[in-house]
Amino acid sequence: MRRLRYHPALRALVRETKLDPSKLILPLFVRTGEGIRQPIGSMPGHAQLSVDLLRQEVREAADLGIGGVILFGIPDEKDATGSDSYSDDGIIQQGVRAAKEAAPDLLVVTDVCFCEYTDHGHCGIFNEKTGRPDVDNDATLELLAKQVVSHARAGADMVAPSGMMDGMIGAIRGALDGEDFSHLPIMSYAAKYASAYYGPFREAAESAPQSGDRQAYQMDPAAAAAQALREVELDLAEGADIIMVKPALAYLDIIHDVSQQFPGVPLAAYNVSGEFSMVKAAAEKGWIDEQAVALESLTAITRAGATIILTYWAKDVARWLAR
Ligand code: PBG
Ligand code: ZN
Repeated sequence: MRRLRYHPALRALVRETKLDPSKLILPLFVRTGEGIRQPIGSMPGHAQLSVDLLRQEVREAADLGIGGVILFGIPDEKDATGSDSYSDDGIIQQGVRAAKEAAPDLLVVTDVCFCEYTDHGHCGIFNEKTGRPDVDNDATLELLAKQVVSHARAGADMVAPSGMMDGMIGAIRGALDGEDFSHLPIMSYAAKYASAYYGPFREAAESAPQSGDRQAYQMDPAAAAAQALREVELDLAEGADIIMVKPALAYLDIIHDVSQQFPGVPLAAYNVSGEFSMVKAAAEKGWIDEQAVALESLTAITRAGATIILTYWAKDVARWLAR
């Protein structure tokens, strides 16, 4: 085996897995105000950005040749239905308009959910209709439809629903088609697990549930991989264009299985906040080499079968690979 390893160029020649900045999507957090870059303590290098600073950030992402950005909005006012999320003047709508103005050719994706916008921090309408405090699936679908149409009107290039409601892709597809947005693709967070790896994100997006957890809508990490395949199958039947598995590193088996079972379907993986923060923290202590570990992790996610990766390292990777 070593004959193909002795020469660096030969190693490169026979290497199948290659990272490419154009396949990476950078998550960004947009907030109100002006000139504000509010650092996220658990995610060094990342910050909540006011709309004006978001413009600079997306221009930089475009110049680095990154595949796109995904926006998360952090509104000033939260309420029971997350009304800022479907207001044409809401924070994410302002962010989308600014991003498209600043970098017209950059792909701007919106995360479609309610947890950042609701005062209870859950991913939809919250009530006790089932006898337990829970997210009301079908009531949430109606508001999801309003939310995506509002994102589309603001100029989003693609929408990415992350709330794990049953039927959400069908509801969103119908809403977009009904409003002349039949060309807009949907990237579905299809197999999204109730994961402890989202911890730092909830600080970043101020979206932690005020009571309980998300186990009644997100997937059980202990469920057999076949359940992820069912989720994917349903989303595709409802009209999803890109499928996502989330988180990435602890779910490489799921990424692999989905890529094998659904060849030809673009598959994204979300290298989530906890996966990023752990490496940052260990690197700060001098325990590991951030660049090497990040590149190895993203290579593993690619090798497992993901063709698109959402990652907080997107800009770094573009710079590292350019060297
Ligand atoms: C909201 C959402 C979450 C993430 C993306 N969209 C958090 C959650 O479900 O609590 C996690 C992203 C990350 O951890 O980087 N629905
Ligand atoms: Zn949510």
